[in-house]
Amino acid sequence: MKAVSARGLTKVFRGRRGQVRAVDGVSFTVEQGEIFGLLGPNGAGKTTTLRMLATLISPTEGTAEVMGYDILSAPQKVRARIGFLTTETGLYERLTPWETLLFFGRIFGYGPGEVEARAEATLRVLGLEGLKHRRVGTLSAGERQKLSLGRCLIHDPPVLILDEPTASLDVFVARTVTELIRRLRAEGHTILLSTHDLHLAERLCDRLGIIHRGRLVAVGSPEELGEEVGGVDFEEVFFRTLRRAGLSPMGANPVPGRAGEA
Ligand SMILES: Nc1ncnc2c1ncn2[C@@H]1O[C@H](COP(=O)(O)OP(=O)(O)OP(=O)(O)O)[C@@H](O)[C@H]1O
Ligand SMILES: [Mg+2]
Repeated sequence: MKAVSARGLTKVFRGRRGQVRAVDGVSFTVEQGEIFGLLGPNGAGKTTTLRMLATLISPTEGTAEVMGYDILSAPQKVRARIGFLTTETGLYERLTPWETLLFFGRIFGYGPGEVEARAEATLRVLGLEGLKHRRVGTLSAGERQKLSLGRCLIHDPPVLILDEPTASLDVFVARTVTELIRRLRAEGHTILLSTHDLHLAERLCDRLGIIHRGRLVAVGSPEELGEEVGGVDFEEVFFRTLRRAGLSPMGANPVPGRAGEA
């Protein structure tokens, strides 16, 4: 079974100035236990793709399965099997990491014993045991991002969907987060992340999908993508791949000519 299998995922947004085909017929699979990255520039359709997979918005066309469950016909089953980290994933400043994890654990309906065991296990995975009783407001950016990941881990989901997990973090903090993501892979989680960071994508991801203007233009390991276009460094690989797909690296999504949903 694939961890994620997307088939023709499409999202058309209708706005005042016409329609935006934000995601246009995207198909890919993520193997269990791998780190798969959606790599693309601003506005490429990464967040929209991940939000459809996380069942927060419904596709205009196409569908996907997560751990064998369809996002359209079994959204509850999908939600129980994913942790979704967004760039808006917030934390309460006045709570401690321990209280934060208990709070989110209770939302999943666990009883007191179970929720404490899960919170302990999550702190251990994150390496945050020493900060258990500090206020979140006093944590560093990296510690906060780890705790935000902890929010997504409390129900021990097999699949983690991480939207820009290192965005706006400095290089040191980003490194602690990427180390944690590798550790989560080693613990058996599947990770689907989005990024516009070429170097992060190349270093961290087992396989990548390059997305631009809503379309997935290439999928493969960083090495395979490099071999395809004969690029010297990964930045060159990225731009050559886009050019080969007939896409200029600049510019917005093309405005489509057919109806979609709002
Ligand atoms: N709710 C919405 N209504 C209208 N258009 C939207 C909506 N959400 C996204 N879009 C448009 O869809 C396109 C893809 O946006 P999306 O947020 O998926 O890109 P992204 O790859 O995550 O970009 P970024 O790197 O900037 O986060 C953009 O043109 C965006 O303006
Ligand atoms: Mg985004």
